[in-house]
Parts: sequence; C-alpha cells; structure tokens
Amino acid sequence: AKPVIVAIDGPSGTGKSSTSKAVAAQLGLSYLDTGAQYRAITWWMVNNDVDLADPTAVAAVAGKPEIVSGTDPAHPTITVDGVDVAGPIRTQEVTSKVSAVSAVPEVRARITELQRSLAAAAEHGIVVEGRDIGTTVLPDADLKIFLTASPEARAARRSGELRNADVHATREALIKRDAADSSRKTSPLAKADDAVEVDTTELTLAQVIECVVTLVEGKR
Ligand code: C5P
Repeated sequence: AKPVIVAIDGPSGTGKSSTSKAVAAQLGLSYLDTGAQYRAITWWMVNNDVDLADPTAVAAVAGKPEIVSGTDPAHPTITVDGVDVAGPIRTQEVTSKVSAVSAVPEVRARITELQRSLAAAAEHGIVVEGRDIGTTVLPDADLKIFLTASPEARAARRSGELRNADVHATREALIKRDAADSSRKTSPLAKADDAVEVDTTELTLAQVIECVVTLVEGKR
C-alpha cells in the first residue's frame, strides 16, 4: 500500500489521541501527537523562566529547545534536549499555559516544520493529530477527520482521565483553552473544508476507531 497521510483535528476531550494511536497501530502507520510538541516547548519555557505573557520573549527563544518525537503508536515518546518529558507535559501548569505559547507565530513555524519532516519520513504513512493539521500543516493529507463532541462529554472524558471529580472545573478550563485555540490569529483550531466531521458524543471509542479505520482503508 502507498504511504497514507491522515490528519485528525478537533478540540480536547474528543478522543483524538486514543483514536489516532489505535488507528495507527491497527494499520501499521506512524503516529504523531502534535499537542505533545506544543506542551513540550511550553514545559521548556516554564522551566527557563520565559515570560509567557510577552510574545516577543517567547518568539525570541522559540528555536532553542530541541524537541524529538518518537512516532511508534505503541510507544510514543517526547524529549526536550534529551530529557523525557512525557509526564511533566501533562501537568495542570503546562495545560493552562500551552495556549499562550502555541499562539506565537514563531513557535508555530518551528513546530510545523518538525511535523512536516516527520510526516515526510514516515515510510508507511502516518496519523497526525492536532488542531491545524488538515488546514495548515498537511493540507494535502489523503484523509482529514474533524472530531467533535458535546462540552459535557468532553469534560466527563477529561475528568475520567485525570481521575478528577471536579467535572465543572474541568469543563470551564477546557472551554477556555478551546476558545483561545480557536480565536488565535495564526492557524487556529478549525475544520478543513474537505475534512470528514465525526461527532463522537454518542459513540464508544471502539466505534470511533472503527469508523476512522474504514475511512482510511477507503483511501488506500
Ligand atoms: O492536544 P493537546 O490538548 O495536548 O494540545 C495542547 C495544546 O497545544 C492545545 O490546547 C493548543 O494550544 C496546542 N496545539 C496547537 N496546534 C496543534 C496541536 C496542539 O496549537 N496542532
């Protein structure tokens, strides 16, 4: 089969990561979590006391950290300057700060370049998940999926993941982050015109995976 490029976009809590990883594993494709890359650069900025309220300061150091993503869906990895940051990038601190960093054009240019070179290097093809993959990073992807779900479903899934009983606070934080990601000037969260929209509110993870696998197989 020819290498197939799949872009999966959507807001948080729609099952993007679980779906993308499973689809890639099932079809023998590589996998890239682009949110992890934005989290990694944010983690580095926090650790280096960069003033995140100052986009000029963020832009000035956007090229400094070396971010390396491992693209095996069975074992995705992410390092910054050789340090494994898979755990630290999931803290609430990084989650609450990532939208400010990812809105800076110099950060996006840098990370987008990494994403394109990883996609080009994937021998059997790749599933790339994020917010702007279908619109900006890989506009020529063979298949574009846009996952959605009701805010309630998304908050419930995220709370479950975090083992956090406070669904309300999770819902508020999530809505705030989506609003920031959707309203930024440079490549905001958006559905590409040629993306297939899948509303996952009433679907199980297994059903979403099956739906996407079928769509990918139709493209091979
Ligand atoms: O997917 P995840 O929730 O880990 O993404 C973290 C953040 O990274 C998003 O809230 C967004 O600010 C940023 N992001 C982005 N573009 C992408 C993927 C993620 O701006 N393609």
